[in-house]
Amino acid sequence: MNTVLSDCRLLDLPKLSDERGSLCFFEAGRHIPFPIQRIYYLYDVPVNAVRGEHAHRALQQVIVAIQGEFRITLSDGTSELTHVLNRPDLGLYICPMIWRRIEFQASAAVCMVAASALYEEADYIRDKSEFLRMTTSSGVPIPGQAIP
Ligand code: TYD
Repeated sequence: MNTVLSDCRLLDLPKLSDERGSLCFFEAGRHIPFPIQRIYYLYDVPVNAVRGEHAHRALQQVIVAIQGEFRITLSDGTSELTHVLNRPDLGLYICPMIWRRIEFQASAAVCMVAASALYEEADYIRDKSEFLRMTTSSGVPIPGQAIP
């Protein structure tokens, strides 16, 4: 699949707030563009830890900071964009073939991920050079635009 960074987007998730607190939700097909097959979350992540550093061949995901804050840098092999996720009602949709790096600069962040498929190691691209070969037509990263 040929996807680019602009296919990824921030999603304002529905939120109901009153004096008892807030409730946030999202439904497959209505608020996010795929059926959810898996939920997982990262927590107890040490300050300055980096997660991710891979891409997925087919998996679609929505990532939410359900507590605290982290930064996600996305790259399609040509350009990159960093988002700060710090609200439980803000989701980041990530389409297939996007390299992601998640940086935890503060403690107590919880990163929840809704995914379109069950865990499958064969769907991962963990080698950055392989990712760049797959996403740049020449196979040579464009200077200044490659993933650092
Ligand atoms: P990985 O997706 O590489 O996490 P991160 O990018 O945050 O470091 O997963 C880390 C390990 O956990 C890897 O060995 C696979 C395993 N894992 C599962 O077994 N099931 C899952 O749903 C996920 C997300 C990971």
